[in-house]
Amino acid sequence: MARFRRHTGRLDGRPAGVRSPCLSRPPGAGRRLPALHQHDRAHRRSPSRTVRSPPVTQDLYELGDAPPLGQVPKRMYASLIRPERYGMPIDAFRTEVVDVPEVGRGQVLIKVMAAGVNYNNVWAALGDPVDVVATRQRRGATEDFHIGGSDASGIVWAVGEDVRHVSLGDEVVILANQWDESAEDIRLGADPSTSSSQSVYGYEENYGSFAQFTVVDEYMCHPKPKRLSWAEAACYMATAATAYRQLFGWDPHTVRPGDPVLIWGGAGGLGCMAIQLVRRAGGIPVAVVSSDERGEYCVELGAKGYINRRDFDHWGRLPDTSDDAAMEVWLKGARAFGRRFWEVLGERRAPRIVLEHSGADTIPTSMYLCDNAGMVVICGGTTGYNGDVDLRFLWMRQKRLQGSHVSNAREAREVTELIGQGLVDPCLSLTLGFEEIGKAHQLIHDNEHPAGNMAVLVNATA
Ligand SMILES: NC(=O)c1ccc[n+]([C@@H]2O[C@H](COP(=O)([O-])OP(=O)(O)OC[C@H]3O[C@@H](n4cnc5c(N)ncnc54)[C@H](OP(=O)(O)O)[C@@H]3O)[C@@H](O)[C@H]2O)c1
Repeated sequence: MARFRRHTGRLDGRPAGVRSPCLSRPPGAGRRLPALHQHDRAHRRSPSRTVRSPPVTQDLYELGDAPPLGQVPKRMYASLIRPERYGMPIDAFRTEVVDVPEVGRGQVLIKVMAAGVNYNNVWAALGDPVDVVATRQRRGATEDFHIGGSDASGIVWAVGEDVRHVSLGDEVVILANQWDESAEDIRLGADPSTSSSQSVYGYEENYGSFAQFTVVDEYMCHPKPKRLSWAEAACYMATAATAYRQLFGWDPHTVRPGDPVLIWGGAGGLGCMAIQLVRRAGGIPVAVVSSDERGEYCVELGAKGYINRRDFDHWGRLPDTSDDAAMEVWLKGARAFGRRFWEVLGERRAPRIVLEHSGADTIPTSMYLCDNAGMVVICGGTTGYNGDVDLRFLWMRQKRLQGSHVSNAREAREVTELIGQGLVDPCLSLTLGFEEIGKAHQLIHDNEHPAGNMAVLVNATA
């Protein structure tokens, strides 16, 4: 059981950090906004309520109940994390009533039908390594709570000024990657997901999907695959889009037919998506897991086979490379792991791509095992941030170590298309109720979650 997990992602002290979401209603809300400075995302997101609806009769509706389409109640139920509850996820989340957030220019209000469960709100619940509430407050936010939830399926319930591509009543899924479309780096051609204005909705930004209503930027919406239930549609985007970018976003290291690909945590959220995506591209996925049961799940998804990491014990940081004896012991473990990879693959080839997120415990092995001129692509550091690399393997074998974070809108749309066509399964393994959001995150924290992705029902009943 991995009880001491580390954070991944953005709230890691990076100076560009989190900006104030500015979603509370200021005086004068509703008036037209002045022209915006290109860096002034806070202003762009400031309220300009243009909800075209008559007043509603009730301030608050029960979960599953709602006013007519387009009408927005004042208050809503939300699952909140408060700093005084930071700690084990099971205790950190609690349902409370808060104001429905305002809808700014370019934004839409979503009535959340179901929400996906991701690792990031384990970190938010722990308040470690970053206090998400305090970080936002340092940037001017007034809220003393965090509403997490980075995946959602729902219905567009209100639209702000200048929204062009989604309409009231549209059924959508959300990509949790936000940026300022007018940021200078984007205007100069940067992939928006690499912009200095980028942040993660429902983690770095407040008012995520663990609530009756959520506010998102228009470009975060993608059509909900019709064949999916609300819970299925809510469960996949963060993991699927991230894995898709890891596997196809870093040319020339994209999965080619015949490429062996090593996938850590094959039965986890990222892993179950990665196995299917590699298989679809003609690659040969080999999963790493911690039990045979999880391994069998990976094989059913399309993995050529699996390696049980419990059979090895060379995990953790590299010894000092000048310590020959310790290095020899470590290399023995890494070589044994490599032989096991060959056995599973059925031939003596190394992985051209290694899909990493487990971090400190596994990165030395990933870098060792990766093929000459191959790529280790990493999107997290579950077991810690110290990525020890024996640089000799890096330069002599001309390998690439590539960071990857969420995805851009195109990648999200493409992976949604694959799921919509039934070519990739969203791997919904467990659907829980709104009051079980803490329980769902505790399962992830304890590495006791079922294989695949989880969702919680918000306004949906099934
Ligand atoms: N940057 C991004 O855009 C992004 C997006 C999504 C996720 N992430 C990060 O990626 C990580 C995984 O996310 P996820 O959604 O796939 O989580 P998940 O569903 O919990 O899966 C992670 C898997 O990692 C494996 N694992 C746990 N401890 C391990 C260890 N010591 N060594 C090797 N494997 C270990 C577990 O599988 P076994 O026990 O079976 O090996 C677990 O199933 C998290 O840190 C998350 O924050 C980042």
